[in-house]
Amino acid sequence: MHVIYSIPSLYNWRRNLESLNARIGFVPTMGALHAGHLSLIHRARKQCGTVVVSVFVNPLQFGPSEDLDRYPRSFNTDRRLCREAGVDLLFAPRPEEFYPSDFQTAVTVHRLTQRWEGEARPTHFQGVSTVVTKLFCAVRPHLVYFGQKDYQQCLVVKQIIRDLNLDIRLMRCPTIRESDGLAVSSRNRHLPANQRIKAGLLSKALCQGEDAIKDGERKVRTIQARMQGILRNNPDVHVEYLAICNADTLEPLTQLQGTVVLLGAVRIGKVRLIDNRLVQCPHQVLNRK
Ligand code: PAJ
Repeated sequence: MHVIYSIPSLYNWRRNLESLNARIGFVPTMGALHAGHLSLIHRARKQCGTVVVSVFVNPLQFGPSEDLDRYPRSFNTDRRLCREAGVDLLFAPRPEEFYPSDFQTAVTVHRLTQRWEGEARPTHFQGVSTVVTKLFCAVRPHLVYFGQKDYQQCLVVKQIIRDLNLDIRLMRCPTIRESDGLAVSSRNRHLPANQRIKAGLLSKALCQGEDAIKDGERKVRTIQARMQGILRNNPDVHVEYLAICNADTLEPLTQLQGTVVLLGAVRIGKVRLIDNRLVQCPHQVLNRK
């Protein structure tokens, strides 16, 4: 496995690949690799001749009061995990080279970033969009692997690919979960035991919503109440949003049809958790003769 820290070295490596015609799969990460990240890497390994992983804690996507300093860093373990997973190149750019002092460009996706995570974290998606675009330009992958856990992020990246005519396919991969349903995340380690027990409730609430839809419930309010019911009476769980949205636009729905996404965000103590469920809403056929 190659480990590259500088952009000129990456260009060099990429140029040498050109003649090999290998399909390049790319998994961007912020490191502290866990089972969720590894599932993306394994999928890329199965589908691509060359697999690139980036580890870069992107300062642009953290708000001023967020956990950039507290964000876990474990580069030696990440390097070992990547090697064991058969990664070809680990790219870990240095922040001062990636964002030199005269850096002044930003990528903004407008409508998709207005709500939900974008509302809770106003500078977040511009930071994600900018770093992802820079990484795509540097690595020039054919396929990129993103986790459904960050559903809005997947849509934002898809939009960038479309709007900027990038010749890249986004592969959205399933959320890896703990046994109680909690989506695996590097932030989970900040949960003390008494709060960790409560953390599984977010996924349970979304499952309740999913079950209600599958049972034929079509009233948005009723489904929302079912989800909220799971989280009620837990004073240490603060619900930021529990929404029922169009899966492509993320606009909240008043009538359920097509593919629906249930989005949720809660705060438990100092930790913010997000999760989602995609649900197919079969069209109800009325008056069939
Ligand atoms: P990070 O949080 O490190 O996540 C990297 C990738 O792993 C993302 O695509 C994320 O959705 C995926 N992932 C995280 N937890 C997962 C889980 N439990 N199951 C499946 N996939 C999971 O997301 C970012 O970094 C950054 O915003 C980044 C895209 C790297 C830009 O800086």
